[in-house]
Amino acid sequence: MDLEALKEQAAMTALDEVRSGMRLGLGTGSTVTWLLRGLGARLRAGTLKDITGVPTSERTVTQCREEGIPLVALESVDLLDLAIDGADEVDPHLNLTKGLGGALLREKMVATTARRFVVIADATKDVPRLGTRSPVPVEVVTFAWRSHLPFFTHLGARPVPRVSQTGDLQLTDNGNIIVDLRFEHGISDVNALAAALDARPGVVEHGLFLGMCSRAIFATPQGIVSRPN
Ligand code: A5P
Repeated sequence: MDLEALKEQAAMTALDEVRSGMRLGLGTGSTVTWLLRGLGARLRAGTLKDITGVPTSERTVTQCREEGIPLVALESVDLLDLAIDGADEVDPHLNLTKGLGGALLREKMVATTARRFVVIADATKDVPRLGTRSPVPVEVVTFAWRSHLPFFTHLGARPVPRVSQTGDLQLTDNGNIIVDLRFEHGISDVNALAAALDARPGVVEHGLFLGMCSRAIFATPQGIVSRPN
Protein backbone atom coordinates (compact mmCIF):
# COMPACT_ATOMS: atom_id res chain seq x y z
CA MET A 1 0.00 0.00 0.00
CA ASP A 2 1.49 3.36 -1.05
CA LEU A 3 0.38 5.42 1.96
CA GLU A 4 1.50 8.75 0.52
CA ALA A 5 -0.57 8.16 -2.64
CA LEU A 6 -3.59 7.32 -0.46
CA LYS A 7 -3.11 10.44 1.67
CA GLU A 8 -2.97 12.53 -1.49
CA GLN A 9 -6.21 10.97 -2.80
CA ALA A 10 -8.03 11.65 0.47
CA ALA A 11 -6.77 15.24 0.51
CA MET A 12 -7.79 15.87 -3.12
CA THR A 13 -11.29 14.53 -2.43
CA ALA A 14 -11.68 16.93 0.50
CA LEU A 15 -10.35 19.79 -1.60
CA ASP A 16 -13.35 19.35 -3.91
CA GLU A 17 -15.53 20.60 -1.00
CA VAL A 18 -13.65 23.90 -0.96
CA ARG A 19 -15.31 26.83 -2.73
CA SER A 20 -13.96 30.31 -3.51
CA GLY A 21 -14.49 32.79 -0.69
CA MET A 22 -14.41 30.17 2.07
CA ARG A 23 -12.78 30.63 5.46
CA LEU A 24 -10.94 27.37 6.03
CA GLY A 25 -9.48 25.68 9.09
CA LEU A 26 -6.24 24.03 8.03
CA GLY A 27 -5.05 21.04 10.04
CA THR A 28 -1.60 19.61 10.64
CA GLY A 29 0.27 16.50 9.55
CA SER A 30 1.48 14.51 6.59
CA THR A 31 -2.00 14.07 5.08
CA VAL A 32 -2.77 17.78 5.38
CA THR A 33 0.52 18.49 3.63
CA TRP A 34 -1.09 17.11 0.45
CA LEU A 35 -4.15 19.28 1.01
CA LEU A 36 -2.03 22.42 1.32
CA ARG A 37 -0.11 21.55 -1.84
CA GLY A 38 -3.37 21.08 -3.73
CA LEU A 39 -4.89 24.25 -2.30
CA GLY A 40 -1.82 26.27 -3.20
CA ALA A 41 -1.90 24.88 -6.76
CA ARG A 42 -5.59 25.77 -7.21
CA LEU A 43 -5.02 29.30 -5.87
CA ARG A 44 -2.13 29.82 -8.26
CA ALA A 45 -4.18 28.45 -11.16
CA GLY A 46 -7.07 30.75 -10.23
CA THR A 47 -9.60 27.90 -9.93
CA LEU A 48 -10.03 28.91 -6.28
CA LYS A 49 -10.05 32.55 -5.14
CA ASP A 50 -10.40 34.57 -1.93
CA ILE A 51 -9.55 31.71 0.42
CA THR A 52 -8.66 32.60 3.99
CA GLY A 53 -6.92 29.92 6.02
CA VAL A 54 -6.72 29.53 9.79
CA PRO A 55 -3.71 27.35 10.63
CA THR A 56 -3.53 24.83 13.49
CA SER A 57 0.25 24.81 13.99
CA GLU A 58 3.47 26.64 13.23
CA ARG A 59 4.29 23.80 10.82
CA THR A 60 1.13 24.54 8.85
CA VAL A 61 1.87 28.29 8.92
CA THR A 62 5.25 27.60 7.31
CA GLN A 63 3.80 25.42 4.57
CA CYS A 64 0.96 27.87 3.85
CA ARG A 65 3.51 30.65 3.38
CA GLU A 66 5.44 28.47 0.93
CA GLU A 67 2.22 27.73 -0.96
CA GLY A 68 0.99 31.35 -0.94
CA ILE A 69 -2.15 30.51 1.06
CA PRO A 70 -3.44 33.67 2.85
CA LEU A 71 -3.76 33.21 6.61
CA VAL A 72 -5.55 34.90 9.48
CA ALA A 73 -5.52 34.12 13.19
CA LEU A 74 -8.42 32.24 14.75
CA GLU A 75 -9.46 35.21 16.87
CA SER A 76 -10.22 37.30 13.80
CA VAL A 77 -12.98 34.97 12.54
CA ASP A 78 -16.32 34.14 14.17
CA LEU A 79 -17.05 31.02 12.19
CA LEU A 80 -15.15 28.94 9.67
CA ASP A 81 -16.99 27.46 6.69
CA LEU A 82 -14.99 24.27 6.78
CA ALA A 83 -12.07 22.72 8.67
CA ILE A 84 -10.05 19.88 7.13
CA ASP A 85 -7.58 17.84 9.14
CA GLY A 86 -6.01 14.41 9.44
CA ALA A 87 -6.50 11.94 12.26
CA ASP A 88 -4.61 9.12 13.91
CA GLU A 89 -7.69 6.91 14.33
CA VAL A 90 -11.34 7.09 13.26
CA ASP A 91 -13.89 4.74 14.81
CA PRO A 92 -17.26 3.64 13.34
CA HIS A 93 -19.03 6.56 15.13
CA LEU A 94 -16.58 9.04 13.54
CA ASN A 95 -14.94 9.66 16.89
CA LEU A 96 -11.24 10.41 16.50
CA THR A 97 -7.89 10.32 18.18
CA LYS A 98 -5.63 13.12 17.06
CA GLY A 99 -2.42 14.77 18.15
CA LEU A 100 0.46 12.49 17.19
CA GLY A 101 1.75 15.61 15.44
CA GLY A 102 1.43 17.52 18.72
CA ALA A 103 -1.07 20.14 17.49
CA LEU A 104 -4.19 18.80 19.22
CA LEU A 105 -5.11 21.93 21.18
CA ARG A 106 -5.15 24.30 18.21
CA GLU A 107 -6.68 21.58 16.04
CA LYS A 108 -9.59 21.15 18.43
CA MET A 109 -10.10 24.92 18.79
CA VAL A 110 -10.16 25.38 15.02
CA ALA A 111 -12.43 22.37 14.36
CA THR A 112 -14.86 23.62 17.03
CA THR A 113 -15.12 26.95 15.20
CA ALA A 114 -16.04 25.32 11.88
CA ARG A 115 -19.49 24.71 10.45
CA ARG A 116 -18.18 21.43 9.01
CA PHE A 117 -15.18 19.37 10.06
CA VAL A 118 -13.90 16.96 7.42
CA VAL A 119 -11.26 14.36 8.25
CA ILE A 120 -8.89 12.95 5.64
CA ALA A 121 -7.07 9.68 6.20
CA ASP A 122 -5.55 6.64 4.59
CA ALA A 123 -7.30 3.34 5.21
CA THR A 124 -5.00 2.33 8.10
CA LYS A 125 -6.65 4.96 10.33
CA ASP A 126 -10.07 3.26 10.12
CA VAL A 127 -10.29 1.30 13.40
CA PRO A 128 -13.07 -0.57 15.23
CA ARG A 129 -12.07 0.95 18.58
CA LEU A 130 -10.04 4.04 19.54
CA GLY A 131 -6.76 3.49 21.34
CA THR A 132 -5.89 0.28 19.48
CA ARG A 133 -3.55 1.84 16.93
CA SER A 134 -2.51 5.11 18.55
CA PRO A 135 -2.13 6.56 22.02
CA VAL A 136 -4.32 9.39 23.27
CA PRO A 137 -2.07 12.45 23.54
CA VAL A 138 -2.79 14.67 26.54
CA GLU A 139 -1.39 18.20 26.65
CA VAL A 140 -0.55 19.31 30.21
CA VAL A 141 0.99 22.44 31.64
CA THR A 142 4.62 22.05 32.66
CA PHE A 143 3.86 22.86 36.32
CA ALA A 144 3.96 19.61 38.33
CA TRP A 145 3.34 17.58 35.19
CA ARG A 146 4.54 14.36 36.85
CA SER A 147 1.65 14.62 39.31
CA HIS A 148 -0.70 13.47 36.52
CA LEU A 149 1.05 10.17 35.92
CA PRO A 150 -0.66 8.16 38.74
CA PHE A 151 -4.01 9.65 37.65
CA PHE A 152 -3.45 8.50 34.08
CA THR A 153 -2.44 5.03 35.29
CA HIS A 154 -5.63 4.91 37.37
CA LEU A 155 -7.57 5.55 34.15
CA GLY A 156 -6.13 2.30 32.76
CA ALA A 157 -3.40 3.86 30.63
CA ARG A 158 0.34 3.53 30.43
CA PRO A 159 1.44 7.18 30.33
CA VAL A 160 4.51 7.98 28.23
CA PRO A 161 5.84 11.56 28.28
CA ARG A 162 6.72 12.64 24.75
CA VAL A 163 10.40 13.42 24.22
CA SER A 164 12.27 14.89 21.28
CA GLN A 165 15.13 13.17 19.45
CA THR A 166 17.58 14.76 21.89
CA GLY A 167 15.76 13.10 24.80
CA ASP A 168 14.34 16.36 26.17
CA LEU A 169 10.63 16.78 26.87
CA GLN A 170 8.98 17.94 23.68
CA LEU A 171 7.13 21.25 24.02
CA THR A 172 4.02 22.05 22.01
CA ASP A 173 3.48 25.28 20.06
CA ASN A 174 1.77 26.46 23.26
CA GLY A 175 4.76 25.70 25.52
CA ASN A 176 3.13 22.68 27.15
CA ILE A 177 4.09 19.00 27.49
CA ILE A 178 2.39 16.01 25.90
CA VAL A 179 1.88 12.72 27.70
CA ASP A 180 0.78 9.88 25.41
CA LEU A 181 -1.71 7.51 27.05
CA ARG A 182 -1.32 3.96 25.75
CA PHE A 183 -4.14 1.47 26.22
CA GLU A 184 -3.24 -2.18 25.80
CA HIS A 185 -6.65 -3.25 24.48
CA GLY A 186 -8.03 0.07 23.30
CA ILE A 187 -10.40 2.39 25.16
CA SER A 188 -13.57 0.78 26.51
CA ASP A 189 -15.50 4.02 27.16
CA VAL A 190 -14.25 7.04 25.22
CA ASN A 191 -16.85 9.42 26.69
CA ALA A 192 -15.90 8.52 30.27
CA LEU A 193 -12.20 8.92 29.49
CA ALA A 194 -12.76 12.29 27.81
CA ALA A 195 -14.88 13.50 30.75
CA ALA A 196 -12.22 12.44 33.28
CA LEU A 197 -9.49 14.24 31.34
CA ASP A 198 -11.66 17.34 30.82
CA ALA A 199 -12.21 17.57 34.59
CA ARG A 200 -8.53 17.34 35.55
CA PRO A 201 -6.88 20.67 36.50
CA GLY A 202 -3.56 21.03 34.68
CA VAL A 203 -4.76 19.09 31.64
CA VAL A 204 -5.03 21.63 28.85
CA GLU A 205 -6.55 19.36 26.19
CA HIS A 206 -6.62 15.77 24.99
CA GLY A 207 -6.67 14.09 21.61
CA LEU A 208 -10.15 12.54 21.79
CA PHE A 209 -12.32 14.40 19.27
CA LEU A 210 -15.79 13.03 20.01
CA GLY A 211 -18.91 13.91 18.02
CA MET A 212 -17.05 16.57 16.05
CA CYS A 213 -16.38 14.99 12.65
CA SER A 214 -18.93 15.78 9.92
CA ARG A 215 -17.41 13.52 7.27
CA ALA A 216 -14.46 11.11 7.16
CA ILE A 217 -12.78 10.52 3.82
CA PHE A 218 -10.70 7.34 3.71
CA ALA A 219 -8.48 6.56 0.77
CA THR A 220 -8.25 2.79 0.36
CA PRO A 221 -6.43 0.74 -2.31
CA GLN A 222 -9.92 0.08 -3.76
CA GLY A 223 -10.84 3.78 -3.91
CA ILE A 224 -12.37 6.52 -1.75
CA VAL A 225 -14.72 5.55 1.07
CA SER A 226 -16.68 8.42 2.62
CA ARG A 227 -18.64 8.21 5.88
CA PRO A 228 -21.39 9.13 6.05
CA ASN A 229 -21.84 8.31 2.36
C1 A5P B 1 -1.47 16.53 14.44
O1 A5P B 1 -1.38 16.98 15.75
C2 A5P B 1 -2.37 15.37 14.35
O2 A5P B 1 -3.60 15.49 14.96
C3 A5P B 1 -2.54 14.91 12.92
O3 A5P B 1 -3.67 15.45 12.32
C4 A5P B 1 -2.65 13.45 12.95
O4 A5P B 1 -1.57 12.98 13.74
C5 A5P B 1 -2.60 12.85 11.56
O5 A5P B 1 -1.35 13.07 11.02
P1 A5P B 1 -0.86 12.37 9.70
O6 A5P B 1 -1.72 12.89 8.61
O7 A5P B 1 0.56 12.79 9.57
O8 A5P B 1 -1.01 10.90 9.91
